[in-house]
Amino acid sequence: MIDPVPRGQQTEASSGTRRGVWITLEGGDGAGKTTQATLLGEWLTSTGRSVLRTREPGGTDVGVLVRDIVLHHRGDIAPRAEALLYAADRAHHIATLVRPALERGDVVIQDRYLDSSVAYQGAGRVLDAGEVRDLSLWAAGGLLPDVTVLLDLDPAVARDRLHADHKPFDRLEAERDEFHVRVREGFLALAAAEPDRFLVLDATLPVDRLAAAVRDRVAGALAR
Ligand code: TYD
Repeated sequence: MIDPVPRGQQTEASSGTRRGVWITLEGGDGAGKTTQATLLGEWLTSTGRSVLRTREPGGTDVGVLVRDIVLHHRGDIAPRAEALLYAADRAHHIATLVRPALERGDVVIQDRYLDSSVAYQGAGRVLDAGEVRDLSLWAAGGLLPDVTVLLDLDPAVARDRLHADHKPFDRLEAERDEFHVRVREGFLALAAAEPDRFLVLDATLPVDRLAAAVRDRVAGALAR
């Protein structure tokens, strides 16, 4: 069970000059996050919103270097080192790109954030979920998204989708099925612990139905 973040840790997120709306997309590899992020971005732009599309790892120049290590290094990376690498990418990304965009009033659409670390490094690599989350919160100065869309998918279905793409698997995608089953359970536990932040969707639904559900939820967040 993952405890929700105590209110006190969220002060930086909700205080000061943050005016934009921050949406993150989460889920296992092959769940369709990128497609949904693109559709959401197109819709928001068509309504006149200023949108920043970004991702972790690799949303900045420093992040591109970290992404190359975590996804393509040949050989082992110790689980705690892996968690720290993702956290380092996050710290730089939030400080230099996401926080300034939110302060300007932009809508930020982000592929993956700290929930991925809790699911992959916590549940997947079997590190302590609370410690992984605290590490990321420290890295990001306590910032939490307004809405997190979890595209939930059976890892066996996800694997078939990835095979159909004919792209080489990266370090994480190449992990065993049990790893991906734990990651999925980790995401679902996070969503259960923070039902107000998460929108959980069945990723096998048609793309346009998913997009409509995401739009509805984001429209609600924009109206607040
Ligand atoms: P992603 O960019 O979604 O991969 P792709 O380009 O193939 O769609 O994510 C890269 C991988 O990094 C993915 O397998 C999940 C993993 N990951 C973690 O293990 N921890 C993290 O904190 C993040 C952000 C990603």
